[in-house]
Amino acid sequence: MSERTFSTIGVVGLGTMGAGIAEVFARNGFNVVGVEQNDEAVERGRAHLQHSTDRAVKRGKLSTDDQDALLGRISFATDPTALKDADFVVEAVVESLDVKKSIVSTLDDIVSPDAILATNTSSLSVTEISTASKHPGRVVGVHFFNPAPVQAFVEVVRTVVTEPEVLDDARALVEKLGKSPVVCGDRAGFIANTLLFGYLNHAVAMFEGHYATREDIDAAMRLGCGYPMGPLALLDLIGLDTAYEILDTMYRQGRDRLHAPAPILKQMVTAGMLGRKTGRGFYTYEGPDSPVVV
Ligand code: NAI
Repeated sequence: MSERTFSTIGVVGLGTMGAGIAEVFARNGFNVVGVEQNDEAVERGRAHLQHSTDRAVKRGKLSTDDQDALLGRISFATDPTALKDADFVVEAVVESLDVKKSIVSTLDDIVSPDAILATNTSSLSVTEISTASKHPGRVVGVHFFNPAPVQAFVEVVRTVVTEPEVLDDARALVEKLGKSPVVCGDRAGFIANTLLFGYLNHAVAMFEGHYATREDIDAAMRLGCGYPMGPLALLDLIGLDTAYEILDTMYRQGRDRLHAPAPILKQMVTAGMLGRKTGRGFYTYEGPDSPVVV
């Protein structure tokens, strides 16, 4: 067991996930340094944090004193050298291998040799990202779910070269955040998305084959299996373009035919039927949050 203690956490990229991750660490007493690519993006990240914690206050989940303390623990920078004292840095920049590798390589020369470098990637190879470090054993996947402040589950991803102490320490850190970590190997989709998207894709194939109506497929899983939403309604919520990209990436990496995107999915994406966000997917909507109308 390693002796690492963590006090300063770096978060690179303060978009949807990074801002949420920064909030989670600050809420649990860690000092956080958030790094973005320019001042405008810093301001967006800061506004995201303000908005999210305002909502927590309104819902009675956070006092205004605690909100002030939480926000006071987060500092912002556009220069990555601000991360020199960080013990643990998680990157949550765009899902691009090149961008993530360049961040890891930059961080490698800034943080101490003991610091852990974590990636929040959903579908890229953590192993490939780790090759950008001179110490790939310190790189680990820490896959938060969206929204990070709410979702209690985190997948901690080990590569074949992740040092056992790094894995143990990353898992212990996730537990300190009040979240439940699970550990898995490095494959696109990890545990949850591998299983979920295989299932969603199967539902699409069933619909495409005219085996049952969309309503009956969804009802079977809601009423028969107790799922909160049916698979086709869930796909409309995720966005058919996003679902297609995730399936395609998993299929290209794992060659598991469960993940070969059902052809109709691509056709619907090409036709602009992306789900709720465009008003039409498997169902038709009046607006992004409206109930089904057709
Ligand atoms: P996003 O597009 O909302 O945020 C990405 C942020 O990275 C942007 O604010 C951008 O300005 C910043 N960025 C880009 N290059 C940078 C650089 N060189 N230095 C500093 N910041 C930089 O993306 P999102 O959705 O937050 O996703 C981030 C990561 O988290 C991706 O790897 C994604 O696959 C993963 N993820 C996303 C989930 C989701 O539901 N959105 C869920 C779990 C993981």
